[in-house]
Amino acid sequence: MLGLKLATDPRWVNIVESNIEEILTDHAWCEQKAATNAITIITLNSEHTDLVTELLELAKEELEHFQMVHDIIKKRGYTLGRERKDSYVNELYKFMNKGGNRVQSMVDRLLFSAMIEARSCERFKLLSKRIKDPELSKFYHDLMISEAGHYTTFLKFARQYGQGVDVEKRWKELIDFEAEVIQNYGKSETIHG
Ligand SMILES: [Fe+2]
Ligand SMILES: [Fe+2]
Repeated sequence: MLGLKLATDPRWVNIVESNIEEILTDHAWCEQKAATNAITIITLNSEHTDLVTELLELAKEELEHFQMVHDIIKKRGYTLGRERKDSYVNELYKFMNKGGNRVQSMVDRLLFSAMIEARSCERFKLLSKRIKDPELSKFYHDLMISEAGHYTTFLKFARQYGQGVDVEKRWKELIDFEAEVIQNYGKSETIHG
């Protein structure tokens, strides 16, 4: 799905189901990070009007997702927990070339963002198919569609603005890198855990 090499072990859903409060808190912070990341990309690339326009919309959607998760947390009598670290994302972050030129950095950040959307989408799809809770099943199905759109947006801009960079080669490298990273996950009740 979406070019990913490894699928998540479906037993991960059982782990999630054992601690719904934890997955909701972790998920809420994933949406916050997604909104923040989109705003960072805008900040670094403000001259690209079409990118700014689309990523402003995307950031609004991520903030809406954050709010939707928070509404579910409230409805179920839970309280949003403290911000959770995302070690999968932190490991993926190491792929990015920090010493390259501005175009290379932009391409890497867009591909990194596309990859997180792709993996989130894969996880949401699995949740929507296997979680027994009907409200969450529907919720994750709807989010999966939204995140798939974000994946497409990030990849599109990487290709559009990656002049002088072999974007396809870099994307393939990231797919391989992600496959190595994700091997150690699928064992805890977090969205990328
Ligand atoms: Fe989202
Ligand atoms: Fe997203």
